Amino acid sequence: MGSKIVGLGMHAPHKKRSNYDLEKIVDTTDGWIVERTGIKNRRVSEPGAANSDMALVASQKALADAGVRAEELDIILVGTASPDMVLPSTACFLQAKLGASNAWAMDVVAACSGFLYSLSVADSQIRAGRAKKALVVGSEILSALLDYTDRSTCILFGDGAGAAVVAECDNNEGLLACHLQSDGNLWDLIHIPGPGTINPLTPDLISNRMMYLRMAGNETFKHAVTKMCDVCHKVVAEAGYSFDDLALFVPHQANERIISAIGKRLGITGDRVFINLDQYGNTSAASIPLALAEAKIQGRFRSGDLVLLVAFGSGLTWGAALLRM
Ligand code: ACO
Repeated sequence: MGSKIVGLGMHAPHKKRSNYDLEKIVDTTDGWIVERTGIKNRRVSEPGAANSDMALVASQKALADAGVRAEELDIILVGTASPDMVLPSTACFLQAKLGASNAWAMDVVAACSGFLYSLSVADSQIRAGRAKKALVVGSEILSALLDYTDRSTCILFGDGAGAAVVAECDNNEGLLACHLQSDGNLWDLIHIPGPGTINPLTPDLISNRMMYLRMAGNETFKHAVTKMCDVCHKVVAEAGYSFDDLALFVPHQANERIISAIGKRLGITGDRVFINLDQYGNTSAASIPLALAEAKIQGRFRSGDLVLLVAFGSGLTWGAALLRM
């Protein structure tokens, strides 16, 4: 037995923030952002918005796409770094809003790799016979965690949600191979210092802007390219395919230059690479399901096609999954 994505949904806040809007806030230009990242717009939530409300809309669309009722779900996993509250999990808020009364729910904190980590947990539970249907979500309101005085980070990220319903299937369908990895020694490349036990909530934490995301962009870039290429090779080889067999490559939407560097190294270029970061920016854990759901809407893959997903983020965490759709 294996597991397969049987429904997809996406949702993003209505409000757009363009590069031109950012020019009015920080010392940057549309030209710099487009040339260095490929991003033109990102979506932003209203202050105080609940992440779980955005996740709810994406989840309802995924359930409708799958023809599955919320009560049929055994598990709800939400990959997020921007939860509704510190406790309880955003997944529990989502469960209540969906009325998924038969599911257990938890958040998976793996930054931009959160969706793939969650997908792997759902797959393992289904293969072990402990669940039949799971809802796997990536949902982020990163706009709440950005320092709008730091031009090197605030231009990169956006808000959005993507959801997938995962169900039992035959062994040669669905998730064919998956490889996850972490390197906690490199935690300081991308982090939010507090509030936490090391940096509790104090006036100093706030005045030093330690509640916002910090990233060493240039060094992160190099790790992102080599680590994502490495893990893509692992899953494609493990499943016994080559990159020529892929119908679509859906990479984490962090930076167009990272995506094109990986595509060139793997020999996957042109229409076989899905990119929507120009309109959403980097939505962290939501990036892959948001892209996969949009690729489905655009008819970029068909039933039976091979699709490769790859993620990379804070932790460091990274991973890849090869799916037969
Ligand atoms: N506008 C104008 N200039 C800027 C901006 C900006 N928004 N941001 C930085 N610059 C300047 C810098 O100050 C620097 O100026 P200097 O040369 O005078 O010092 C110059 O541009 C070059 O800066 P770099 O940081 O070297 O620029 P780089 O080409 O590396 O691009 C970027 C920066 C876009 C952040 C890139 O490094 C990147 O995409 N990194 C990887 C991000 C990633 O993959 N993150 C992982 C997931 S995120 C997560 O887990 C939550």
